[in-house]
Amino acid sequence: MEFADVVKSRRMSRAFSQVAIDPSLFEECVDLATRAPSAGKTQGWSLLVVTGDETSRYWDIALPIEKRESFSFPTLINAPLVALVLADPHAYLARYSEPDKASTGLGESVDEWPAPYWTIDASFATMTLLLALEDRGISSLFFAHAQEERLRESFGIPAHVQVLGTIACGYSLPDNERKGRSASRTRNTAASVIRHSHW
Ligand SMILES: Cc1cc2nc3c(=O)[nH]c(=O)nc-3n(C[C@H](O)[C@H](O)[C@H](O)COP(=O)(O)O)c2cc1C
Repeated sequence: MEFADVVKSRRMSRAFSQVAIDPSLFEECVDLATRAPSAGKTQGWSLLVVTGDETSRYWDIALPIEKRESFSFPTLINAPLVALVLADPHAYLARYSEPDKASTGLGESVDEWPAPYWTIDASFATMTLLLALEDRGISSLFFAHAQEERLRESFGIPAHVQVLGTIACGYSLPDNERKGRSASRTRNTAASVIRHSHW
């Protein structure tokens, strides 16, 4: 696909078939995501990937059975792959303590950082991943999951690691798709976001 077509056709999908994603296809997409820019080339992000039957362990926590009947997107849980996006601030403290970065002082504490670059890097990588998936005909939803503490416990995620959210991926069921609550909001245009020389 042309780049502009990939960007324009990507939509958050909330209705999936159970068709599995070829692991090598997913890996190719993640490989492209590793090309995302990263502060000091720290690359302190990772994905905790759960596939196939294992996804039920994820959903039993994030969307317990008693809540499913009233859930607006019942086929979201068909997604054959879910990935938690993780960012490790400690990797940034270590990188910015190296000789070429030590003078910034950013290696001393996360409180020194004007912006959380681990969140920014993981976000850039996530966006690259979503576009790579779209380019290969795989749909996805990045969402704010519930029950983070229980997910951390179940999947062994250390307390210092930031969990940005979950990406559900798979082949979408377009006929079945209900729109998200924000879908009817108008999209910004270039003219509305570019401020010329002054706020
Ligand atoms: C940080 C973030 C959190 C989001 N959380 C949710 C969510 O919890 N549930 C959901 O259905 N969509 C979620 N979305 C999807 C947005 O609603 C969606 O991206 C937006 O409405 C624009 O639609 P589009 O991505 O299909 O163009 C989230 C998106 C982002 C970037």
